[in-house]
Amino acid sequence: MAAEYDPLTLEYFQSKQLPFRVFSEIPDHMELLGDLRGLRVIDLACGEGFYTRLIQKSGAHSVLGVDVSYEMIELAKSKEASEPQGIEYAVCTATNLSQVVIDKFDLASTAFLFNCAEDRVELAAMFREIASCLKEGGRLCATVGDLGHRPDVDYSPYGMRTEIRNNLQEGHPYQITFLLPDGDFTITDFNHSLSTYQQLCEESGLRFEGWQTCTVTSAGIEKYGEEFWEAWLASPCIWRFSATKKG
Ligand SMILES: C[S@@+](CC[C@H](N)C(=O)[O-])C[C@H]1O[C@@H](n2cnc3c(N)ncnc32)[C@H](O)[C@@H]1O
Repeated sequence: MAAEYDPLTLEYFQSKQLPFRVFSEIPDHMELLGDLRGLRVIDLACGEGFYTRLIQKSGAHSVLGVDVSYEMIELAKSKEASEPQGIEYAVCTATNLSQVVIDKFDLASTAFLFNCAEDRVELAAMFREIASCLKEGGRLCATVGDLGHRPDVDYSPYGMRTEIRNNLQEGHPYQITFLLPDGDFTITDFNHSLSTYQQLCEESGLRFEGWQTCTVTSAGIEKYGEEFWEAWLASPCIWRFSATKKG
């Protein structure tokens, strides 16, 4: 997986400007994280640090950004060097966090990590590692993509397209192409059902707290109109959940 994202650092960062991200994914994920003031946070699959920087800006005590891609972390570190916020970054897989984690965290934030797990075994290892790096009562807040189940919906107005095969099974890969002004790029995600994430929370000692689906900010509705967002809201392909580490 590291190799997949290594050449895509700038393109992935540019995709953060797409309307579905600006007016839906990003505010939704930040809302899920809640009040960050004073918290020790780990941002898993931090990429080039998009959410990591937002988390620190929102008043976290400290943030560690972790990603398996060397190039993503290099870009994150160069942004930290040019605009220092006191964020730490490390190259590490979320299936083996003990390499970099010493203290326990109040909060683990992750956007689109779980879609990178190629099978249930890898996914289960991620959940176990996350649970073990949280304090008792600490929270996991995760945003996941669920595009694999939406073959009939055209998401291209929002900036992405998916090539979905019929009968997509648990763990099967599917491609997502992001449609950017300077050229498209494609990533591979893996299909995991929402119930799989829920089960793995419980199996790893996390109390699942429920699903939330996409919303759109009033600024997004003002800019594009209600009709534009109808398919986005009617067939959500991004979901969020939180879970708390049991005592
Ligand atoms: C879709 S990007 C999301 C980046 C960032 N969270 C965001 O929303 O901007 C997925 C990221 O997961 C990272 N990744 C994939 N497998 C990983 C693993 N096992 N451990 C840590 N990071 C991983 C990739 O390198 C990539 O940066």
